[in-house]
Amino acid sequence: MTVCEYRAGLEGVPATQSNISFVDGQKGILEYRGIPIEELAEKSTFLETTYLLIWGELPNKDELEAFEHEIRYHRRLKFRIRDMMKCFPESGHPMDALQASAAALGLFYSRRALDDPAYIRAAVVRLLAKIPTMVAAFQLIRKGNDPVQPRDDLGYAGNFLYMLSEREPDALAARIFDVCLTLHAEHTINASTFSAMVTASTLTDPYAVIASAVGTLAGPLHGGANEEVIDMLEQIGSVENVRPYLDDCLQRKSKIMGFGHRVYKVKDPRATILQNLAEKLFEKFGRDNYYDIAIAMEQAVEEKLGHKGIYPNVDFYSGLVYRKLGIPTDLFTPVFAIARVAGWLAHWKEQLAENRIFRPTQIYTGLHAIPYTPITERRETLVD
Ligand code: CMC
Repeated sequence: MTVCEYRAGLEGVPATQSNISFVDGQKGILEYRGIPIEELAEKSTFLETTYLLIWGELPNKDELEAFEHEIRYHRRLKFRIRDMMKCFPESGHPMDALQASAAALGLFYSRRALDDPAYIRAAVVRLLAKIPTMVAAFQLIRKGNDPVQPRDDLGYAGNFLYMLSEREPDALAARIFDVCLTLHAEHTINASTFSAMVTASTLTDPYAVIASAVGTLAGPLHGGANEEVIDMLEQIGSVENVRPYLDDCLQRKSKIMGFGHRVYKVKDPRATILQNLAEKLFEKFGRDNYYDIAIAMEQAVEEKLGHKGIYPNVDFYSGLVYRKLGIPTDLFTPVFAIARVAGWLAHWKEQLAENRIFRPTQIYTGLHAIPYTPITERRETLVD
């Protein structure tokens, strides 16, 4: 066995072999099953892309229609899941609500048959169909309203916007939201996908796999960054304040949210697409000050940190788009999760096809053969 040197955060250490997606961080390339993200964003839909990610090739017309139909059919939540969500505290973070609700699916759909393709398909459909309904339901419940039922005449993205706002979704807004989902659907072995794979490798149920990935995505260094970008733009407040704010961050050595990436050392290709989408939305619904601040911020960060390969990542412009779509800031990460379920499920399926439980090693840095100290002889507690 080859013994590798220890790398904090497993940076650069291959954890699996996968043919789901590819990133070239130097050239700014992202491909799903070999197809460039730009092509998919322009020509595909989120559900078609999801099919591609999970089953390895684009569906034909009949396959796509059948997949979309199944997902429509499974969008509703059992009333007991809705009732359970009504017991969650309104002040709780929607990511915690989503993690708990996703895990609860395992209680209701407890049959596990990981070697049965029909079981795999049913779990894929159920998770893709129900996660958006859960996010929207928690939003309405915490406002004191009853969740609205999904609408069968609306597509995946449009139905989510409808369930959230209880209003007819605008066609451009729904298309742009669908593209956002495609852009966030998959991104190689990031922290949450790795978490999904580790959980999957124990052969537990798919609901536990997705719940563990949701918990991992919630952190501010991962999916949580898009919320913090909006807080940052709010704090900056004006274009004039961009450079003083940045200088202050750099002096305090604090990270600028929405910038930098473990893999990309150029601008994230998804950030470029999202910026274009933001512009389309501003054209139709009016431009806002946050966008001007964001542009000035990108310029200033590039000047100061471009030499270190620090450029906007996917989270920098996604928040601006979601805000314009009327999505509340603390739902940005749950919306990321709605999209990333596609990638997590693709990796779950790939992991099952050639499973070996994850069991890395460690470098022990502690002591050895220490005699046990009786409690009466231990050091005293220091009181200030
Ligand atoms: N602002 C300022 N400096 C930065 C930033 C940033 N956002 N990101 C990296 N750097 C600097 C860092 O200080 C270090 O400088 P030096 O070598 O002088 O000490 C150098 O760049 C390398 O940084 P690192 O923290 O070792 O890089 P990493 O690969 O461990 O971190 C990251 C990647 C995404 C965690 C980090 O860039 C970061 O914290 N960014 C802000 C949070 C963010 O936007 N997260 C979303 C990531 S993309 C979507 C997702 O994964 O969900």
